[in-house]
Order: sequence, then C-alpha cells, then structure tokens
Amino acid sequence: MTSIAKAPGKIILFGEHFVVHGNRAILGAIDKYATVTTEKINTENILISSSLGQASIQKDQDVDKVEKKFRPFFYIAKQVILKNNFDKGISIKIESDIPIGAGLGSSSACCVAAAASILNLFDKSDKKEILELSIQAEKTIFTNSSGADCTVSVHGGIIEYQKEKGFSKIDIENELNFLIIDSEQVHATDKVVEQVKKFKDENSNVFSELCSEEERLITKALDSMKNNDLETIGKCMAQNQMYLEQIGVSNDTLLSITKEIEKITFGAKITGAGDGGCIIALTEKDNDLSEYVNTTKYQTHQVSIQKTGMQVFNT
Ligand code: MEV
Repeated sequence: MTSIAKAPGKIILFGEHFVVHGNRAILGAIDKYATVTTEKINTENILISSSLGQASIQKDQDVDKVEKKFRPFFYIAKQVILKNNFDKGISIKIESDIPIGAGLGSSSACCVAAAASILNLFDKSDKKEILELSIQAEKTIFTNSSGADCTVSVHGGIIEYQKEKGFSKIDIENELNFLIIDSEQVHATDKVVEQVKKFKDENSNVFSELCSEEERLITKALDSMKNNDLETIGKCMAQNQMYLEQIGVSNDTLLSITKEIEKITFGAKITGAGDGGCIIALTEKDNDLSEYVNTTKYQTHQVSIQKTGMQVFNT
C-alpha cells in the first residue's frame, strides 16, 4: 500500500513570537501544500527523499545523530515503527510547493503530512495523534516551538491558538485573501525565537507591556474579522507589525516591502519568525494588484484560506 498525505502551509495574521511566551495568536492555513508519500519496505532502513536531498538511515539509529534536515521524519518513522512492532523499514518521499525558510510553515506542513502518511500505513489515526506526533517531531529541531503552525496545518481554516489552551476555529462568513511577498531572505525560526527570548530577558517590562498590547489587538482583530471589517483588520495588522519591529524581528528590506504594499492593500505585516521570510498583505478578492506583482523584484503569491487542513489517501 502507498499512503499519501497532503498538509497546508500557513500564515500568521497576529501574534507570532508572543505565542511562544504564552499569548494568543491567530493563524490561517493557505492553499500551498507539503505532500508526503510513504510505503513499507523490506529492509530495516528508513529511506528519505526530498528536494533537500536523500538519506538512508538504519531504523535503530539514535535520532540525535541524524542530519538535522531529516531528523523530524526519521523521528516520526521510528516512533510509528516502535508503536507497531514493525520489523522492517519505511520509505518517505517529501514534496512541497511551500517556500522553505520563508515563514509559511513549510517545515510544520512536512511534519504533519509525514505523521499522517506514516501513521496511515498501519492503522486509522485521528487528528489528535497526528498533531501530537508532528509537534514532537518539529521539536527535535526547534525545541521552543509553540505548536501553532502544526495545529493550523492539521485543522485548516483560521484558528485562535494558545499553547496552554490549544486551538479554536474562527468562523468567518466572508473569504479572506492575501498577497504574500517573499523577501527571499531565508531565516532560521529557532535562531529568531532565541533572539526574541534575549530581547525579553533584557527588556522584561517592555516585553510584558507589548504582550498586553498584542492581547488587546487580537481581541479587536477578532471582532473585526467576525464583522468582515477588512479596513480594521488591515489596521490591526499594521499595528502588529510595529510590535514586531519593537522586538527586533524586522529589517530594512521587510520594512520597505511593508510600506510599499500597504499603499494598495488594507494592511501588511511580517508573517512567521521574521528577520527575512515573507510579508502578508490583506487584499480584496478582486483587487487588481497586477501592476505591483508584475513590477516588483520579489516573488509574490496570491493565497486564500484553506479550510479543511491535512488530508490522507491510499493508493
Ligand atoms: C513561526 O512560524 C512562529 C513563531 O511564533 C514560532 C512558534 O510559534 O513556534 C515565531
């Protein structure tokens, strides 16, 4: 049997970084996907192939000894093999149209799709098990992950997320549409999160005040989302961008993209870890952004919210 799972990437509308420290965040799944295809094989190896390269790893090897980029997938395969007392190995093929290191949840979507696909080789699994396994896998390379990115990839739609409380879905009548602008500066989420922790340790009062401001902003943003008030949502995004600038995760390139795009959209901000990666701008579905898209030197993606989350198939 071949098992295939497809999981969406994400944008963070509000609250990245603050969510790592216990605050709420609002995330949306987007219509860009990681796809993982797996099969049982007759050797005792875990075979991984992806655009980042190939690896063949003995299934009893220590997870920490595995090259970082393959570690989460090896971890997932190893956990599932142990749980099922399987005496052979697994092949894992990873494909993705989510840009890597750009703040669009590529790594989380790959972990979710891998967990869903590998669990499905053995038994029916539920979303809770897939989510727990994918978060543990992500933590093999990014210990401080809040779990937000994997959660929205599993469940889809727009969610409110808090580490201690988990997630709730936000029902919005109208569609939300975004233009993503990729600064093409690759970032490492774990390093940026570490940098914010340092900022917090050195500026605890300022950080705590910003957390409270972000909380108030999210309450306002949620109200405007329920009322389909795009103008206020956009203003809240611009405000959130200022908080991200204050904690030091923006830079000149990101700032100039933001300033440029917010002239022709409702509002714009960094999405994800920052210090590179992408800017998201809230648009109207029939907004004609072709002049910007055709003349900017950056790669752009027009996306809408993906509602269903990850999906699994057998062939
Ligand atoms: C990364 O997409 C979002 C961060 O808040 C980290 C996390 O939530 O794990 C920066």
